[in-house]
Amino acid sequence: MLQTMNPNKALWEKGDFTRIAATMRASGEALVNSLGVRRGLKVLDLGCGDGTTAIPEARLGADVLGVDIAGNLVEAGRRRAAAESLSNCRFEEGDASNLDALATLVAQILKTSSAYSPPPPEGFVSPMTWGVESHVEERFGKAGVPREKISFARDTYLFEFPGTPAAFVAEFRNYYPPTMNAFEAARGNGRQDELQRELEHLFEAQNTAEQRDATRIPATFLRVTVSV
Ligand SMILES: C[S@@+](CC[C@H](N)C(=O)[O-])C[C@H]1O[C@@H](n2cnc3c(N)ncnc32)[C@H](O)[C@@H]1O
Repeated sequence: MLQTMNPNKALWEKGDFTRIAATMRASGEALVNSLGVRRGLKVLDLGCGDGTTAIPEARLGADVLGVDIAGNLVEAGRRRAAAESLSNCRFEEGDASNLDALATLVAQILKTSSAYSPPPPEGFVSPMTWGVESHVEERFGKAGVPREKISFARDTYLFEFPGTPAAFVAEFRNYYPPTMNAFEAARGNGRQDELQRELEHLFEAQNTAEQRDATRIPATFLRVTVSV
């Protein structure tokens, strides 16, 4: 039988997302601290990556299951949990079908990248739509969740990188799968310098760090709370 690789899995196992996740740890922890996670709570962290939020959830005593489609990130999460002896933090490989958190910077990187990439396969649902309230309502509606059970808040995430915005672009170019793909496609038609300049311009414009040689980029995301 012909085995086909899930395209999402192929995408996220490319490069090394842990390099980007390393710049988001403080915000991940702050987000978790704002959620009222407490000892014994059962938490399912879907699309958990290498545990930016799963690890802080477990530190607070929750019983955490992190699920991610990328085997390398599941392994990285397991190593991080083991390093802290967090036996209440398990990581498993699995497909959550497009559940994702959305950051503005990431939306803009993906928008820029898509202009340089071949069109996505038919039926592809952009993860960006999880940042649009009407789409979220429609999806939960189809699962039988009424509008009044869903609440939304705009929140902010911080990328913190110990280097210039251009060096941070290089991290995305070398390790962040969607950006790696965009550069590969751009290389094919000689547009990689253009893509590099466009991303550097974006990162520089969004950088709020006061020190030289540091990058601090706030990115908004949609926090969705569903009461069941
Ligand atoms: C932008 S990363 C965010 C990771 C993590 N939540 C964090 O805050 O660092 C998106 C993650 O979603 C995972 N992912 C993408 N599609 C998925 C799917 N269908 N099922 C499970 N995980 C998925 C990727 O492997 C990746 O780890």
